[in-house]
Amino acid sequence: MAKQLISAAVLLAMAGINGAWAEDYPARTATIIVPFAAGGPADITGRIVADILSRYLGQKFVVENVVGAGGTTGAIRAARAPADGYTILSGHLGTNALAPAFYPNLGYDPQRDFEPIGLTAEYPELLVARKDFPANNLKEFVAYTKANPEKLNVGHAGLGSVSYIGCLLLHSAIGIKPTMVPFTGTAPVLNAMLAGQVDYECDPVLGTLGQIQAGSVKALAIASRKRSPLLPDVPTSHEQGLPQFDMAPFYGVFVPTGTPQAIVDKLADALSKGLNEEAVQKRLAELGAESVEPSRRGPKALADLVKSEAARLLPILKAAGEK
Ligand code: MLT
Repeated sequence: MAKQLISAAVLLAMAGINGAWAEDYPARTATIIVPFAAGGPADITGRIVADILSRYLGQKFVVENVVGAGGTTGAIRAARAPADGYTILSGHLGTNALAPAFYPNLGYDPQRDFEPIGLTAEYPELLVARKDFPANNLKEFVAYTKANPEKLNVGHAGLGSVSYIGCLLLHSAIGIKPTMVPFTGTAPVLNAMLAGQVDYECDPVLGTLGQIQAGSVKALAIASRKRSPLLPDVPTSHEQGLPQFDMAPFYGVFVPTGTPQAIVDKLADALSKGLNEEAVQKRLAELGAESVEPSRRGPKALADLVKSEAARLLPILKAAGEK
């Protein structure tokens, strides 16, 4: 009995300490892990989050790019970090919903080991090819890739990254299996494509927008029902007869499971306030993000999105031959 009373007292004291640091949070610099290379969609999005959290919470939130294995190296680091709000993951559809389809011994369970904070953005993907690639639209692309599968080098950000998954959907719709070349992010893929070492990639619109507008690479299709106002001349996959190539991956913020509720609430509130700012919405629109209703952005909505995207896409990936 005495032992039970002591344990209860220890638990109560610990809860008090937890409550105290949650109240003072953040008391020092926090790290936002971006699991892909600097300069790409994940990095740009993670830096928008870092800016918002730093401004609203009065401490520095610093981006650290922890790259490798399609984003799962960084996600594992975040999942195993102390659940104290000082290590945050700026993850996405791949790292936080679909990674189990690609890695049988993943090292974390996206739904069990992470607590969602909020949805930052959704960006449709583009099929983008090097400037002198022989095809200029999806019809020519299908004809060329079917006739020359051995000549193709497709860049992506690692197994399970959204650039990998986007092209997987495209290839399975066409019925081809070209060589997939992994990089640590789609920023280095773009450099390789500019140098002519990679033929094409499937990347969220913000990754290549500037180079498309400059004419250094070309967009053959947007993987959506709607054209992008930023690229009005780029026809959709639906218009071009390949509706299976339809993908607008989410990018969102997560903390390790077990993070005190008061910290989760502070982060979610700060993120939501920042995303509601007109200037932030304008910036996201300029990057090609689809507009997301505020009711779809909070922790519960993101948890639901993770579940529904996993339920919708895991069977498709399995059918496409992913283990
Ligand atoms: C990146 O930032 O490099 C990409 O968003 C990663 C990916 O393709 O998943």
